[in-house]
Amino acid sequence: MKQIKFFIHTYGCQMNVADSEMVAGLLIKSGYILTKDIDNADIIIFNSCTVRQHAEDRVIGRITQEGSRKKTKPDLIIGLIGCVAQRCGEELLQKIDCLDFTIGTAQYRLLPKVIENCLKNNCSTSFLQTNHNENYSDIFPYRKKGVNAFVTIMRGCNNFCSYCIVPYVRGRERSRNHLEILKEIEIAGNRGYKDITLLGQNVNSYKDDNIDFPTLLKMASRIDPIRRLRFVTSHPKDLSEKLIDVMASEEKICEHLHLPLQSGSDKILEKMNRGYTAEKYISIIEKLRNTIPDVALTTDVMVGFPGETEKDFIDTYNLMKKFRFDYAFTFKYSPRDGTASANPRVNREQVDEEIRLERLQKLIALQEKITYEKYREQIGKNVEVYVEKISKKNKNDLSGKTRDNKITVFPGEKNLIGKFIKVKIIDATGWTLKGKKQNI
Ligand code: 5AD
Ligand code: SF4
Repeated sequence: MKQIKFFIHTYGCQMNVADSEMVAGLLIKSGYILTKDIDNADIIIFNSCTVRQHAEDRVIGRITQEGSRKKTKPDLIIGLIGCVAQRCGEELLQKIDCLDFTIGTAQYRLLPKVIENCLKNNCSTSFLQTNHNENYSDIFPYRKKGVNAFVTIMRGCNNFCSYCIVPYVRGRERSRNHLEILKEIEIAGNRGYKDITLLGQNVNSYKDDNIDFPTLLKMASRIDPIRRLRFVTSHPKDLSEKLIDVMASEEKICEHLHLPLQSGSDKILEKMNRGYTAEKYISIIEKLRNTIPDVALTTDVMVGFPGETEKDFIDTYNLMKKFRFDYAFTFKYSPRDGTASANPRVNREQVDEEIRLERLQKLIALQEKITYEKYREQIGKNVEVYVEKISKKNKNDLSGKTRDNKITVFPGEKNLIGKFIKVKIIDATGWTLKGKKQNI
C-alpha cells in the first residue's frame, strides 16, 4: 500500500501548536506518515488563527498560493483546520477552489475519515459543528524531538472579553481530568521532555472536582522526570494568592509568569470586560515580586481599542514603564465580527488606523528599550540553561532556555543537548543572552 504523507503548518498560539501535535498523533495512528517537507506531501493541512484579521489573511493567502501545486499534482489534498475554519470554513470552502476540506476545532476526530473520503471520492467537505465537551483527552499527541512539551489542561473560554473571538471559535471552558494530565506529563518526562508548559486559555480557572490549578501544579511538580514547569495563559481576575504561594514553594515551577495586562486604563479594561482594574493588576505584580523577587514577567497589551483616548493610552504606556516587563506582546486592536466590541454601536468609537499604528509604535519602542535593559541586567549572573539545540546562527554555539524563559546561547558540544548546564552570562543583545559554560 502506498504510504500517504501529510504536512501540517501551524499559525497562531501555543494552543494551536499543541492541537497540531494532537492531530498529528491522530493521523499517525490511522496510518498516515508525517513529513516535514511540503513538496513531498500528499495532504497539506493548515491549522489557522483568527484572533486578528491579519492572522486570518495570512493563512488564506498561503492556501491560495499552495493551491497552485495542484497543477502538477492534481491528487494533492489541502485542508484547513483551527479557528479560521471554525469561524468561516463553509464560506471559504465555496470561495477557495483548491480547498478540499475545512474542519472546526471540535471535530478533529473526523480528520482520518474526511481525508480517506477525499482520497477516494475527491469531494470537498466541511465539518464545523461545535461540541463544548470535546477535550481530546484520550488522543496522545505526536511531539517533535526536543526538550520542551506542551500539555493541554483545558480548552475553550468563558470570559468573553469584548474584543476576543476565542470563546466563539473554541467554545465553552472545559478542564481535562487531572489524572490524565498527570499521566501525559509523566510519559512526556520519561521521553525526555523535562520542561513542560501547561496550556489553557485561562489556566487559573482550571477545575476538576476538587482539584484547582495550584493543586494541579503542585501535583505535576512531584512527577519525577520533570525538571521545569510553566503555564500559560493566566488571567489577572482569577490569579490567586494560593498560586503565587505554590509558585514560590515548588522548586520545579519556573520563575516566569505571563500575565496579559491588555490596557492600563480602568475605563478601557471595563469596556474590554476584563474583570479587573489597573490597581488590582498592580497588587498582583507587587505580591508576586515580593514573594518571588527574580520572577520574569511578560504580558500582552493592546492599543486602539474602541474609545481609547490619548489619556487612556498614556495610562497603558506609564504602567508598562512602571512594571518593566521582561517582554511584551503588543497588538493593534482588530475588530472581529460577532464580538461585542465589533458591534456597530461601539464601532462609532473606533480609533483611526493611523493613531492605532502610532500608539503601537510608541509601545514597541518603549518595550524594546526595557527588554534590552532587562537582558543586560543578567550579565554576570550564573544561570541554569536547559540545552535544546545547536544555535541557528553559529554551529559552534548551543541554544537553550533559562528557567525564566530567556533564550541563551553559549559555545558547547552537541552532546550537551538535553542537559541542564550552568552558564555565566557575559553579554546580552535584544532577546538573547550570551554565556560561557561553568564547570561546576
Ligand atoms: N485585536 C487585537 N488583539 C487581540 N488579542 C485578542 N483579540 C484581539 C483583537 N481582536 C490579543 C490579546 C490577547 C492576545 C493573545 O491577542 O492581547 O491576549
Ligand atoms: Fe479571549 Fe479573554 Fe478568553 Fe483570553 S480570556 S481567550 S482574551 S476571551
